[in-house]
Amino acid sequence: MAHDLLLLAGDGIGPEVMAEVKKVVGWFNANGMAFAVEEDLVGGCAYDAHGQAVSDATMDKALKADAVLLGAVGGPKWDKVPYEVRPEAGLLRLRKDLELFANLRPAKCFDALADFSSLKRELVEGLDILIVRELTGGVYFGEPKEIRDLGNGQKRAIDTQVYDTYEIERIAAVAFDLARVRDKRVCSMEKRNVMRSGVLWNEVVTQVHKDRYSDVQLSHMLADAGGMQLVRAPKQFDVIVTDNLFGDMLSDVAAMLTGSLGMLPSASLGAPDAVTGRRRALYEPVHGSAPDIAGQGKANPIACILSFAMALRYSFDAGEAADRLERAVETVLADGVRTGDLLGPAGGAAVSTSAMGDAIVAALDGNAR
Ligand code: NAD
Ligand code: IPM
Ligand code: MN
Repeated sequence: MAHDLLLLAGDGIGPEVMAEVKKVVGWFNANGMAFAVEEDLVGGCAYDAHGQAVSDATMDKALKADAVLLGAVGGPKWDKVPYEVRPEAGLLRLRKDLELFANLRPAKCFDALADFSSLKRELVEGLDILIVRELTGGVYFGEPKEIRDLGNGQKRAIDTQVYDTYEIERIAAVAFDLARVRDKRVCSMEKRNVMRSGVLWNEVVTQVHKDRYSDVQLSHMLADAGGMQLVRAPKQFDVIVTDNLFGDMLSDVAAMLTGSLGMLPSASLGAPDAVTGRRRALYEPVHGSAPDIAGQGKANPIACILSFAMALRYSFDAGEAADRLERAVETVLADGVRTGDLLGPAGGAAVSTSAMGDAIVAALDGNAR
């Protein structure tokens, strides 16, 4: 039976990088796999079409699909639209309504790019860390969340950080499970020195570890110090587990360590269904819609292509296909094929988004032989 894949390309460079993923999906369809691809709108383009950043009809499709792949949303065109229907709200609704609480953001340094990191080669060479970000709780969704008019010419902006025990338990378990098939080390980051949610986070992660995962090594860091350690000596980490907001910031930091934001994929997973074992899942690059380069054929499609590799691994039980796709990306980078973001200070000739996609598909052929 075909795998149902919903593609939501979104705004800015989203459609440009998604076009390259379609070539890759086409390659797998021609080589023994069966993906039934459907496409729909999300973000600013959805707002322009029907006044909502994601429509109920699109949400229905996303709920039914085996996996959703998203490009990017947002852009200056929609800066002034009301908060509830902003492009970003579409993405947040997808995450919340699909209950995708576990956001996996791997930061892996490809050898060919070690010199383009903002850190010295020896600090990032061989880097392979995984940030597990809680995605449906915390200050992103806590209530109250509003701007109050105080009536005296002043306003008060309120965001609320809220975490319940079960939310911390389930994200901790995901981090420990993933660590078990990696280097068996988890570092939990919060700010228990100032935040009550940090105190509970620390307690619950410690308890889950004690009850079920004593074979994994657990350490704790205050999130600000964690950010410092990430740029001082990133290789000390294996899996980092943290809340929604800290995870957002720390994963952008980790992204730059690997050379470019244009390289980093992510997977957002729900709980396994009790009957089918199937997890709802959405895959997306860590980067945004890059309005500064949109429409110019300059975007690096690798983050989106590697997001599809994560879909192969986590939604379609196709680990070998995922390995093959990741190897194809490595081959192309080792051959010196570079989009502009991967050139580094030394400069050189950049290829277009589309040429990068073609090179990866050609490398898939090579690796298939
Ligand atoms: P951004 O990630 O879009 O861009 C940051 C910088 O990285 C830019 O200079 C951009 O050109 C570069 N860049 C990003 N992806 C690239 C790629 N694939 N290839 C080459 N260069 C790349 O972040 P931003 O500028 O802060 O945000 C722009 C818009 O995107 C905002 O509306 C923001 O809300 C939105 N956003 C969306 C997502 C998402 O859809 N998941 C994620 C982050 C930001
Ligand atoms: C990300 C983005 C989103 C977030 C925005 C666009 C809502 O920055 O996926 O990292 O803050 O989670
Ligand atoms: Mn972010």
